[in-house]
Amino acid sequence: AIERTLSIIKPDATRRNLTGAINKKFEDAGLRIVAQKRILLSEAQAGEFYAVHKERPFFGELVSFMASGPVVVQVLEGEGAISKNREVMGATNPSDAAPGTIRAEFAESVGENSVHGSDAPETAAEEIAFYFSGLELVG
Ligand code: CMP
Repeated sequence: AIERTLSIIKPDATRRNLTGAINKKFEDAGLRIVAQKRILLSEAQAGEFYAVHKERPFFGELVSFMASGPVVVQVLEGEGAISKNREVMGATNPSDAAPGTIRAEFAESVGENSVHGSDAPETAAEEIAFYFSGLELVG
């Protein structure tokens, strides 16, 4: 089925001017960028977005990192977009990521891992609604 997923290009990647290189990976894989904006999250906003992780030992680090510089939030659309995006991103920890994936090529560490992608249809819908209104989604 045609799906939509929420993707974030994280501060480590925007800082190194990798937005275009990462978007090329998505487009080469058949994912269409149907919405996109560059924003600076506050720590409160980053904490709200990652609330599911608030009991994890890395939560504080995750929130301060995600607020440390601009992020590009985007909606990717395509056949099986949620799992396709996860394939293109590679494993969370770049040392486990398959060759050619975004995290294998660009990520600096498990925390500064260049991209986020929704993990399931329900979370994709919630995460898209966190950043975008319906008017901003142009397939
Ligand atoms: P993401 O897909 O954005 O979802 C939660 C994030 O937490 C994850 O990517 C990682 O960047 C981050 N994360 C996971 N494990 C660790 C860890 N051990 N230390 C720091 N950050 C982590």
